[in-house]
Amino acid sequence: MARYLVTSAIPYINGIKHLGNLVGSQLPSDVFARYLRARGHEVMHICATDEHGSPAELAAQKAGKPVAEYCAEMHEVQAELARGFRLAFDHFGRSSSPQNHELTQHFAAQLAKQGLIAEVVEHQIYSVTDGRFLPDRYVEGTCPNCGFESARGDQCDNCTKQLDPTDLINPRSTISGATDLEVRETTHLHLKQSQLRAELSDWIEGKHDWPLLTTSIAKKWLNDGDGLQDRGITRDLDWGVPVPDLPGKVFYVWFDAPIAYIAATAEKFDDWERWWRTDKGADDVTYVQFMGKDNVPFHTLSFPATIIGSGEPWKLVDYIKSFNYLNYEGGQFSTSRGRGVFMDQALGVLPSDYWRWWLMSNVPETSDAQFTWESFQAGCNKDLADVLGNFVSRVTKFCRSKFGEEVPDGPMGETEQALIEELTRRVTLYEGHMQAMEFRKATAELRAIWVAGNEYLQETAPWAVFKQDPVHAAGIIRLALNLCRLYAALSVPFIPDASAMLAEALNTDLDWPDDVASALDTLKPGHAFSVPENLFAKITDEQREEWQQTFQGR
Ligand code: 2FM
Ligand code: ZN
Repeated sequence: MARYLVTSAIPYINGIKHLGNLVGSQLPSDVFARYLRARGHEVMHICATDEHGSPAELAAQKAGKPVAEYCAEMHEVQAELARGFRLAFDHFGRSSSPQNHELTQHFAAQLAKQGLIAEVVEHQIYSVTDGRFLPDRYVEGTCPNCGFESARGDQCDNCTKQLDPTDLINPRSTISGATDLEVRETTHLHLKQSQLRAELSDWIEGKHDWPLLTTSIAKKWLNDGDGLQDRGITRDLDWGVPVPDLPGKVFYVWFDAPIAYIAATAEKFDDWERWWRTDKGADDVTYVQFMGKDNVPFHTLSFPATIIGSGEPWKLVDYIKSFNYLNYEGGQFSTSRGRGVFMDQALGVLPSDYWRWWLMSNVPETSDAQFTWESFQAGCNKDLADVLGNFVSRVTKFCRSKFGEEVPDGPMGETEQALIEELTRRVTLYEGHMQAMEFRKATAELRAIWVAGNEYLQETAPWAVFKQDPVHAAGIIRLALNLCRLYAALSVPFIPDASAMLAEALNTDLDWPDDVASALDTLKPGHAFSVPENLFAKITDEQREEWQQTFQGR
């Protein structure tokens, strides 16, 4: 068995994430980690909240709370939602932890030792009224590129151009609205990433099996010249990891956030180094990261620059699985306009398995994808209710009415042999897709495995056979009950609650099938079970219309 370190991009602390955020990192990383565990691998699955930077400070201000208190509360909210979606992290940490302070400062010190840090005098916007510098989102103004009047200091939301606060025309403070702004000198640390260009380029060029989305973004940034410029890794803010010897400054949020993957492991596990230091046992670890496409440059260039530049034997990522965007009903999800479904609302509408299944079977792997309520209703009703739920219900209820709540005894024949052969082939395909993190293909194969059960029932028609040959019908039902158990085991990564309910009703443990034939001979004649509650309810047209209304936004 192998050892896998799996991390999900860490969500910003300010606000509750929408379904598009969920399917871009936390959910697929959970599906993969659950699969690996089911296969018997040793897994460390890590996520955290990304708590620093101007957005966190501004959100706290808006909420009228001290930023530390705001972050502590929002961390709990996000951790609870993660539990609600059954995201089984080994630890859900915080980038504001003491461990991350220490590690971030450690990496900066190492980089300095390697000659990769420069002290640079920058010209930054200072607000006389506010008595402070205004980095990133603390200043707004007119975009020099498109004329949009509410462009932020770090980026224009209208034309997406990356900006520097001093680029803005008619700048104003987002704290006070003050316009008495001056450009003042302030000293910052820059990471000389350009010196690592050759090494990073070789490393990326060697990744032939990475998704095209990941490598194409990485190469674009490497070769555009823009991506590997030396960059400021400190800011004039209070909240963050303090920069030793530069009072009043903290590290930039994108410098400390990825280090929080390591720190979050250290928050919980004393032996964290065996996952992260190749000189302390991590040389046999396979490290996989999950993230949305906007995060790719930071994980293919900036964070590896930190790791490689440190000159220490830290674990570098082995595989980066990245995702396109999920849109909502022909537009974008929007927090400010209340458009789309956010994680807390989703759980108020339906249990997590519905969302997990629809999101993963429509995951934006090769292009942007779209959430529509029609597609959600159709997908859940067809796959979960009609195919899987209906199969389980027919088999268990038929057995109860004809043979009682015990696995009956009966022979197997040629039809069963053919089914075993088909399933053997399909399970192998399914495993291959899961291992390759090709989740759309994996869900399609799992659906086909469920469908094969329904087709088997159609073909063998135990309700008709029972009238002439009850023993033969018993054989069919014995196999079908074992199929329910097989389905529960194979479906764990996607619909863990339904799998657990099914396992409980069948009065059995779940394990991954070594071979299909013996897996289908696990529940022996006489084994007691109970009929599970309806696994999945159908979504009605009225419900769909109501939800469409509720979440359409202002
Ligand atoms: O895009 C985001 O939500 C960022 N908070 C992701 C950070 S991932 C990492 F660097 F830790
Ligand atoms: Zn613009």
